[in-house]
Amino acid sequence: MSTKLKIGLFGFGCVGSGLYEVLNQSKLLNASIEKIVVKDLTKKRSIPASNFSYDPASILDDPTINLVVELIDDAEAAHEIVTTAIRKGKNVISANKKLIAEHLAELLMLKDQYGVSFLYEAAVCASIPVIRNLEEYYNNDSLTGIEGICNGTSNYILTRLNNELKSLPVGNQAFELILEDAKKAGFAETDPTLDIDGFDSKYKLQILILHTFGLKTIPEDVLNLGIRHIKTADVLFAQEKGLKLRLVSFARKIEGKVVAFVAPLFVKEDSFAYDINYEFNSVSIEAHFSDKQVFIGKGAGSFPTASAVLSDISALQYDYKYEYKKLFNSTSDLAQDFDIKVFVSAENLAALAKIKLMEVEEEFTSLKYAYKVGRINISQLTHNFYRNNPDLFLAFYGESEIKLQISNELNH
Ligand code: HSE
Repeated sequence: MSTKLKIGLFGFGCVGSGLYEVLNQSKLLNASIEKIVVKDLTKKRSIPASNFSYDPASILDDPTINLVVELIDDAEAAHEIVTTAIRKGKNVISANKKLIAEHLAELLMLKDQYGVSFLYEAAVCASIPVIRNLEEYYNNDSLTGIEGICNGTSNYILTRLNNELKSLPVGNQAFELILEDAKKAGFAETDPTLDIDGFDSKYKLQILILHTFGLKTIPEDVLNLGIRHIKTADVLFAQEKGLKLRLVSFARKIEGKVVAFVAPLFVKEDSFAYDINYEFNSVSIEAHFSDKQVFIGKGAGSFPTASAVLSDISALQYDYKYEYKKLFNSTSDLAQDFDIKVFVSAENLAALAKIKLMEVEEEFTSLKYAYKVGRINISQLTHNFYRNNPDLFLAFYGESEIKLQISNELNH
């Protein structure tokens, strides 16, 4: 027998309003939105204002609401809502990757303590059903790696830079122009820094690492490098070598350690990432027996994200909970000290000169642009790397090279 779900919905933006519509069209579900709480009561919306309240307590203190769906973009406010709802014994669905990544340990503890279900399929790559697959389908096959294009905004920018290179203004201006389009299209976060500096990709990677390797991480554990300083000359460099740049969330077990980071990668034609374009996301899973499998789908937008929330609602009708089976078996740890081959470029030649690379294998300098290719220890690429080196663009070399380099390193 399925449980009747009485939903209290927080947020009626892009995803919240999408869910409202998607749920209206899904007649098979025994679920209904009973109350909707929003921050701004005066905002014009697709349904009458009488449907909304701005008082969180109207949902959280209502004992008839048995499911809270949190779809707001303010991670701090979401934390308050989600933890209060769990403490009141309500099941919770959230799409807030920042909230989940920053409070993983607390949220896992709370949902166990109060015996509720906490689901978040929509938080990672929107429409791609990756979390439940990692939990259910891959729970017997030992996983060796997971990589993804997990941010639609960055991928949209990188795709357009690659496809429209000849018609774009040179330098970093092209990036700025396309970012504006990504904001207009509704892919970017309210604070697009999260997209273009790799934080959003990192939060999603942390969630993937939890369900792939059973490893709890905090954001500071995982390096994130973004695409903010990319220039048209960097894209040209890639094209001349038959490569493409993609912002990849990378986690792989190498020599018993999990190597994890978010960084722009030069990828070859045989990479899962090469043909993933615009706002599409992709996740490539490598397992011991099943080998490599690749999921592709829309990673942002109203209906694609709402579809994942809908799937969680559907699962909750049968009291589904993530079991985190791998969490209890995990003995791995993160590796954070190895050398890696990088490309670094700048228009500010003095800024580039400050970066010391080992085994430099390629260098170019002109009056307005310079780059070098060599090796660097990953521990030097701290989270403040770009703050300390504001004009640099840095990219790693693709998956097969990384795997080989790191395993050689960790073996020594
Ligand atoms: N800003 C995010 C992206 C939205 O561009 O992928 C979906 O999480």
